[in-house]
Amino acid sequence: MENDKLFTQFNLKNFTLKNRLGVAPMTRMSGAEDSIPRQDVLDFLVRRAQNGASIVYTEAIVTDYESAQGYPGQSRMLTQAQIDAWKPVVKAIQKEGAIAIMQMFHCGRMAWREVNPAHRSIAPSSVAPTQDNPMTGSPYPEPEAMSQFDIDHVINGFVETARGAIEAGFDGVEIHGAHGYLISQFFSSYSNKRTDDYGGSVKNRCRFGCDVIQAVKKVIPDDRLLIVRISDWGIADMEVSLFETKENYQETVKLLSEEPIDAISVSTYEYRQPAFGTDKNMVQLTREVTDMPLMICGGIYDRASAEDALKNADIILNAKSTLLNPNWVEDVRVGKTLKQYNSEEANIAYTPEVLL
Ligand SMILES: Cc1cc2nc3c(=O)[nH]c(=O)nc-3n(C[C@H](O)[C@H](O)[C@H](O)COP(=O)(O)O)c2cc1C
Repeated sequence: MENDKLFTQFNLKNFTLKNRLGVAPMTRMSGAEDSIPRQDVLDFLVRRAQNGASIVYTEAIVTDYESAQGYPGQSRMLTQAQIDAWKPVVKAIQKEGAIAIMQMFHCGRMAWREVNPAHRSIAPSSVAPTQDNPMTGSPYPEPEAMSQFDIDHVINGFVETARGAIEAGFDGVEIHGAHGYLISQFFSSYSNKRTDDYGGSVKNRCRFGCDVIQAVKKVIPDDRLLIVRISDWGIADMEVSLFETKENYQETVKLLSEEPIDAISVSTYEYRQPAFGTDKNMVQLTREVTDMPLMICGGIYDRASAEDALKNADIILNAKSTLLNPNWVEDVRVGKTLKQYNSEEANIAYTPEVLL
């Protein structure tokens, strides 16, 4: 294991990561009316930094009070109280030698109207996912196609949320462009049927995501990170390949790489799986077209899978093992035989169970 990459440092812009293992973003739905996570959920993140993770992501933070929220109990970074709640958490993560990144998102057509104060569901086009919302057992409502006013308003939500994260002390922010949420809905012709500048060609479908990046970048100081997460799969209608073809996906990656971002995080369900009918997996196909620092996530659960995934990536993120095994990083370091957890086991994340 001497030549292994996993426990070597990595320079991510002005940050030196002590190893290549990070905590993936994990929504916990633990907040109350105040949109602040439960204290044990915040402590959980610090505990994972103490165990040796070099990057710790927050759960997906909702970018506005109008239409962004997709699940009950989600958090925001828009009021002083919300920002202040994160300050000691960020400090404690940094004290352990890890960097803290806030992920932010807008759910688009995956929004659950009942949990949004304005009861709206908006999307690139008025097309609902075909699957029912597993949380309500009912079909997703048909969303309103976004007007230019909506587009500007939503971008402003990303900007204000990023501003909150910077004030809270985060080392960077991530724009969630994966999993079939709003930005991903714009990327994909499956949900984007627009005929204006935001639809049609790959470049046009990227425009909204790029506009968000450009706007957010303006409030990110030079010594902080801006990261984008992408995936070819969505939470609803999971079997659908969101980018349709390898060419479509790679053109999107190239366009994103031209934006002022510091890394791309690729989310898969299982990193090894070949993509788009090729014999290559998502991270290999991403690496083919970009020199950006790359993060990979999905089914990486022990030392062998982590080393293997690192052949084409710079940083490994993990969700389920990190959630369920507080000593995961250390267990990986010593090469312990580890099990691969499944989604049902991870559902404990959404219960009042304390996972320290
Ligand atoms: C409880 C839970 C909550 C999640 N919440 C988010 C989230 O807020 N944002 C996100 O981008 N991915 C989220 N994911 C997906 C994970 O970040 C990760 O991409 C996925 O679980 C696959 O990685 P794994 O095999 O290491 O678990 C969540 C996963 C789990 C298990």
